[in-house]
Amino acid sequence: MSTTPTEKRRVWVLNGPNLGRLGSREPEVYGNASYDDIVQACQQAGQSLELDVEVRQTDDEAELVSWLHESADHSIPVVLNPAAFTHYSYSVRDAVSQRTAPLIEVHLTNPAAREEFRHNSVVASVASGTIAGFGLASYLLALQAISHEPQ
Ligand code: DQA
Repeated sequence: MSTTPTEKRRVWVLNGPNLGRLGSREPEVYGNASYDDIVQACQQAGQSLELDVEVRQTDDEAELVSWLHESADHSIPVVLNPAAFTHYSYSVRDAVSQRTAPLIEVHLTNPAAREEFRHNSVVASVASGTIAGFGLASYLLALQAISHEPQ
């Protein structure tokens, strides 16, 4: 199906485990913005960038993998915060590797500046790029980057 010039480009913002608890989760590490704040900010950014943004979160690896398959099947660009899956999930990595559209890995914090087990991302080498360390703005920068990618 081809997109008409009036249709907005779809983008999915997919979030992995524990991110639904933002706001109350270790605010000294992750800040005070809640998951709902992230959803709202991404949707607002979508409006100004003319993107049709859908934000989802799951604690379930299988569900995240199935969303990534669906995004590949429909060539939907993705902003992905794989959360802890970043560091060890080869199934998330293999699903990202099948992408057919830009996929940007994002993190609220800068994992490279944290505990050693967070230094490695198994996803980074198959993503289009990574934005980390800017809190909620990491997501907004990623949406901006996607809006600059050719369709
Ligand atoms: C995170 C960083 C990961 O190391 C951690 O497991 C998370 C959040 C971030 O956004 O900073 O859950 O992805």
